[in-house]
Amino acid sequence: MRDVSAVAAAFRTAPGFGSSPLYSHLLAVVAQDQFLLELAARTRIGQQPTFALFGAVHHLLLQGTPDPLADYYASVAGSHARPVDAATGPTFVRFCETHFARIAAILATRLVQTNHVQRALVLRLGLALVRRSTSAPVCVVEVGASAGLNLHAGSYAFTVGQATFGDRACPVRIQVEVPPTDLLPDLDQLPAIADVVGIDLDPPDLTDADDRAWLRALVWPENTRQATQLREAMNLVAANPPQVLRGNAIDVAPGVARALPPGLPRLVVHTATRIHVPAEDQPAFDAAIAAFGVDGPLLHLALEDDQRVSPSGRPGLGLTATDGAVSRTIAVADGHLAWLEPLAAINEVRLGS
Ligand SMILES: C[S@@+](CC[C@H](N)C(=O)[O-])C[C@H]1O[C@@H](n2cnc3c(N)ncnc32)[C@H](O)[C@@H]1O
Repeated sequence: MRDVSAVAAAFRTAPGFGSSPLYSHLLAVVAQDQFLLELAARTRIGQQPTFALFGAVHHLLLQGTPDPLADYYASVAGSHARPVDAATGPTFVRFCETHFARIAAILATRLVQTNHVQRALVLRLGLALVRRSTSAPVCVVEVGASAGLNLHAGSYAFTVGQATFGDRACPVRIQVEVPPTDLLPDLDQLPAIADVVGIDLDPPDLTDADDRAWLRALVWPENTRQATQLREAMNLVAANPPQVLRGNAIDVAPGVARALPPGLPRLVVHTATRIHVPAEDQPAFDAAIAAFGVDGPLLHLALEDDQRVSPSGRPGLGLTATDGAVSRTIAVADGHLAWLEPLAAINEVRLGS
């Protein structure tokens, strides 16, 4: 079991669940309840207990577990969902008491694997930045790829600010709010792909109903558009799944790096992954990523837990680009990529050697 005081701190200091008033409210409910904290402490080491506990409860409700708590979930009750009120916290506590064993079993076995398709924009942006530097084919690696939905960034329809890119007919539609800018590269100018591979601790199987249901449960209850986008992407990718290797990137990535054709550029991307790597393992994780630069020029993009304020004043996460030995913040974005504001440093990105 995890250290309960560290779990309490995670609920107390979480930056919030911007698009989920329900989860934002429940953070404080859990932070003050010893029983809930001890339940959340069953989350696997390294995994964020906030996402894990809320996902486990949501999973049971989506599976049809009858309980008054469901009335608060727009994903179950629809547009008539009850807004947060004084009874929300006690109802959540009662649900967790009643279903303690089922929730604990989910926490013991599942990982936070939210595969948020909007974040495919990071990979597509990386491809366009590589293309700006070289006409060589690129090897693409996503670390923490979950089910590999974002490795299909080349297949989706994108609306980025006012511009459209990608396969406009694709049912998977990614819409990212971007202020008027000339900083972004042309997202239709992509390099040829030499190789694509994902790495994940436990890649969900899109042909398995339980794995799909868990990915669905990790979408916050109010985010119905995201749930639709996820379903469309799961349907599309299940028919043509990318290769996602099972294992800890710390162990697997160096071998993957050695197997790539020497000299070809590598684009390595991770989004919402390092945040789930235990703090003591993060230096080894970073070293494993850097290994991709040994035998070929590397561009490494990361959207993780780097809290920044955007040029227009919005709190978001820094999107960092590392080429050679230089790391730059090239954009500030919402963690779910609802919006992105590019920074001038994006123009300095070149492939490292
Ligand atoms: C929150 S999900 C994000 C998935 C995807 N990157 C996205 O943005 O939609 C984090 C993923 O990272 C994986 N993960 C966490 N630590 C990892 C590690 N050390 N090595 C490989 N995968 C890891 C988890 O299994 C999970 O699928």
